[in-house]
Amino acid sequence: MFVKTLDDLLGEGVSGRRVLVRADLNVPFDKSNPGVISDDGRARAVLPTLVALRDAGARVIVMSHLGRPKGAPDPKYTLEPVATRLGELLGSPVVFASDTVGEDAQAKAAALADGQVLLLENLRFNAGETAKDDAERGAFAGQLAAFADVYVDDAFGAVHRKHASVYDVPARLPHYAGGLVLKEVEVLKKVTESPEQPYVVVLGGSKVSDKLAVIQALLPKVDKLLVGGGMCFTFLKAQGHEVGKSLLEDEMVATCADLLEQAQGRIVLPVDVVAATEFSADADSVTVPASEIPADRLGLDIGPESVALFAEAIGSARTVFWNGPMGVFELAPFAAGTRGVAEAITKIDGFSVVGGGDSAAAVRTLGLDESAFGHISTGGGASLEYLEGKTLPGIDALEK
Ligand code: 3PG
Ligand code: MG
Repeated sequence: MFVKTLDDLLGEGVSGRRVLVRADLNVPFDKSNPGVISDDGRARAVLPTLVALRDAGARVIVMSHLGRPKGAPDPKYTLEPVATRLGELLGSPVVFASDTVGEDAQAKAAALADGQVLLLENLRFNAGETAKDDAERGAFAGQLAAFADVYVDDAFGAVHRKHASVYDVPARLPHYAGGLVLKEVEVLKKVTESPEQPYVVVLGGSKVSDKLAVIQALLPKVDKLLVGGGMCFTFLKAQGHEVGKSLLEDEMVATCADLLEQAQGRIVLPVDVVAATEFSADADSVTVPASEIPADRLGLDIGPESVALFAEAIGSARTVFWNGPMGVFELAPFAAGTRGVAEAITKIDGFSVVGGGDSAAAVRTLGLDESAFGHISTGGGASLEYLEGKTLPGIDALEK
């Protein structure tokens, strides 16, 4: 387990000390309104840590990535709107540095007063953050570590990344696990090691290749694995169905066929599909059996019979883990599958975990009651890799 936690740090006293906090402020933005955050769940999730440090008089320096810029500044991925939002949530302004470790960051870090919060510009504007080369990552981590006396990791969504701010900074500073990281690990540990049976996992999202390892790890443990979203079409193809213009990973069809055989009926696929003429909210769409998707259409959601089938399996579960939307929920005509499955999960007599940026955002975007779920994780990839049983670099670094 973690060597030290945020509570230990608060117990030591942080007044006047410089605390470098790695947060995951990789929030989604409204596609039609640039600069407008569409779901601030990740910012809210790290608030308790920031508030506790601020109120204890720490000089708080927050760092995060946003999107996947290529190691150089790119205005599309600036964290500036996030600094504004964070200030609103904290009820006190957040100072924003227009670079990560440059002159502006150094000046603003040096000028911080007790109880003030500074957000550095996007970590991934620096090639050292994601570098494969240990020395290059280490050099950047050294610049970050120079800002502070201690380091707190509360970026659960990024603990699966071997990046400078996640893996190399804690090797250079006294390090503590934040409350969000602690809570996430506690829940995922329980679901991984001792899930109450029956255990049902619902997987969606676009690619089978992203989920292959987790499917293999989970198959021996689950009673049912329900597959929706874009990835279901590769499975349907493996069952011998034509999928029209739907998303398909041809090179994964044989693997899916193997998984279906291994699973002996425990992988459940949609029986009907909402098939549209194109990827658009205005496209003509019809619900068809999953075995009869027309050649000129693409599946954009699971159909109502599939929702009923999935809801029945979910309803009998004592533990449900859900990652990935069932369809293109951002477009109203294709949101019913995700909504139906999410609602079924809220009704179980047991413990549910929603894993992932997209599924968590779906819960809030669709106006579902967040408190009806057992736990909503801020990490997509991170929670899946935890379930796979992998060593996560960020957690590993905190344990050393
Ligand atoms: C996420 O959104 O999954 C996390 O913030 C990690 O982002 P990444 O997948 O770009 O590393
Ligand atoms: Mg991700």
